[in-house]
Amino acid sequence: MAQADGYGAFPLRRNAVLLVSPPVPSLHDLLARRFVFVGGKGGVGKTTIAAAFGVTAAERGRRCLLVSTDPAHSLGDVFGQTIGTAETLLAERLWGLEIDPQREADQHIASVKLQMKSLVHPRMYDEVERQLELARSAPGTLEAALLERMAELMANAGHRFDLIIFDTAPTGHTLRLLSLPEIMMSWTAGLLKHREKSSKLSSMLRRFGGGRERGDELPLVDTPTEDAEDRRASKLNAILVARQRKLRVARDLLLDPAATAFYLVLNPDKLSILESEKALDSLSRVHVPVAGLIVNRVLPQEAGGAFLDARRRQEAPYLQEIERKFKGLPRVMLPLWPEDVHGLAAIGRIGTALAGQD
Ligand SMILES: Nc1ncnc2c1ncn2[C@@H]1O[C@H](COP(=O)(O)OP(=O)(O)OP(=O)(O)O)[C@@H](O)[C@H]1O
Ligand SMILES: [Mg+2]
Repeated sequence: MAQADGYGAFPLRRNAVLLVSPPVPSLHDLLARRFVFVGGKGGVGKTTIAAAFGVTAAERGRRCLLVSTDPAHSLGDVFGQTIGTAETLLAERLWGLEIDPQREADQHIASVKLQMKSLVHPRMYDEVERQLELARSAPGTLEAALLERMAELMANAGHRFDLIIFDTAPTGHTLRLLSLPEIMMSWTAGLLKHREKSSKLSSMLRRFGGGRERGDELPLVDTPTEDAEDRRASKLNAILVARQRKLRVARDLLLDPAATAFYLVLNPDKLSILESEKALDSLSRVHVPVAGLIVNRVLPQEAGGAFLDARRRQEAPYLQEIERKFKGLPRVMLPLWPEDVHGLAAIGRIGTALAGQD
């Protein structure tokens, strides 16, 4: 424990007057989870804490993947290393990955384009191009692409890692993402239904001698022969069903408190408390369980001088407010460090402070 600089296990003991026996999220619990999400307002310390969780879990023998989902990636800066869209080794048993939503969206659109072109009549190619180019700039496309990648990681990367930690974008953004699987799933289900209907309709039309001759009735579906159409329909169904399965697996994992923990990071200030309240409310409305609260940047008692005494007096009611408003929710307090947190050693110190409260 880094006691020499006076910061090691500071938080709970020194603030015992303010926080009467608060329940503390257990690191043991954290390490038992397969997925951890770290959320909170902009700038409160999400990336730092996600990194500290990762370093500590890896030190304790867990194979860990740290995933940055914030378009303004800063995970690489924290580790002093370039992290890209491929898994990058950061320390023993610890890998990092930065999702690039634009790249994901481009790849997704390119693959849908290919799939659609194999399914429609060549005269519809231009229309497919036009529709998908519109989709590229439609609101929500980047979020959907990001979520799709996160779902992919949850559904498929679980066997390669013991723990995947998602460093998320500021709260509001994240919450929208978290509620998207429902929307994406109903959209997929809608497509499936539509597909079922249209293949029933076209076989009916064929039976009655219609459809093929008057192909414009089903403009997006080319039906040269029953066999070819059946093959295409089942190919499309298989793609949609696989996607639906992936989203469902991710969603079920997200809502399973034994598999997933969502930690909210906040600072002892007014806006951060307000935002955390909202986040807690929205998360409980979409049934995502919050495992704990991390109160970051609490002024250490030993920090002296009139200026810091004044800041501490201002901070005290906020700490009490946190105690009052988040009663019953496990929480951990981390001190304000004298310098920014960069590099493995500094991140490790935060991890040790978190672990010290286990
Ligand atoms: N306890 C702390 N003591 C001192 N500095 C800290 C502490 N926690 C975080 N910082 C510093 O504060 C800055 C912001 O932290 P961080 O990047 O982790 O926040 P964030 O919530 O991820 O921000 P964003 O919303 O922009 O992604 C960083 O420079 C980090 O080193
Ligand atoms: Mg960040």
